[in-house]
Amino acid sequence: MQKLLKNPASEYPNAWQQAHDVQPHDSTLAGEINVRFLSRDDIPSLLELEHRKWTEEQRADASMLASRIAAFPALSVGAFCSRTGTALASLFMKPTRHDLIRQCSTWADCARKQHGDDAIRTGTLFGISLSSVDSKAANAIFEFFWPYALKQGWSDVYLGSPVPGLRGWLSKNPDITVAQYVRSERQGLPLDPQLRYYFKKGFRKIVAIKDNYFPHEPSLDVGVLILGKVPLSGLSFIWKRVPLPWLQRMKKLFFACL
Ligand SMILES: CC(C)(COP(=O)(O)OP(=O)(O)OC[C@H]1O[C@@H](n2cnc3c(N)ncnc32)[C@H](O)[C@@H]1OP(=O)(O)O)[C@@H](O)C(=O)NCCC(=O)NCCS
Repeated sequence: MQKLLKNPASEYPNAWQQAHDVQPHDSTLAGEINVRFLSRDDIPSLLELEHRKWTEEQRADASMLASRIAAFPALSVGAFCSRTGTALASLFMKPTRHDLIRQCSTWADCARKQHGDDAIRTGTLFGISLSSVDSKAANAIFEFFWPYALKQGWSDVYLGSPVPGLRGWLSKNPDITVAQYVRSERQGLPLDPQLRYYFKKGFRKIVAIKDNYFPHEPSLDVGVLILGKVPLSGLSFIWKRVPLPWLQRMKKLFFACL
């Protein structure tokens, strides 16, 4: 594993990483929050975050975190408190293809690194995991990542969202189906709080509803595969020619374009 992290490209000869100049120490300071690509040195604080946000059967252990970072370091992002170094939010992603991700029936299938993943050049990502104890930190992660995504040609991001309002809603409305709940809206926003959260972040398309997707009691283990567009990615032919620092200066615009 150490070898992988020191020279990931040697283990993944076709990795898209070769095509990109991302450095693990690239970082952005957003006030008290330091956002950067992750390295294995971050694993102890990432584990604390996992413990705060996930149950035992849901959370990633040290070896899962290490292999996500080793496989796709430029798709592993963390936000840390600048003062204490505590991890406040993390986002892990991997490349995928539309057809592949739609075939996966569980989160484990979607998240598993598959042979050939590193050679995938479709512009499509799957968000393996988002964890956050501070909404400013979660926003800072997206703000940090979007410029890289535009430079690297990523345009679509899938996520498997829990639907934590489902169990309570069905207990009060037993005649409603899971699909009706998932697609229910109030004032133009999804009824479910987590789908609503992702909707506001630009993940607006419901692609599939999957039973037994991930252990999550309030969601009755249902997962909803949702799809979001990287803001401004429709103009990718321009962004590939624009220097990264210019894109980074445009970061506020990304949220305005959601
Ligand atoms: C989902 C998550 C990343 C959001 O973190 P955040 O950006 O710091 O935002 P918050 O937790 O403050 O939630 C923001 C809003 O979304 C709603 N929300 C998000 N996830 C929710 C959930 N699981 N249950 C209820 N509400 C949720 C909150 O009610 C809150 O609404 P408000 O603004 O009206 O108060 C974080 O709650 C988390 O780590 N949850 C556990 C792990 C998880 O479910 N990850 C996503 C898997 S795809």
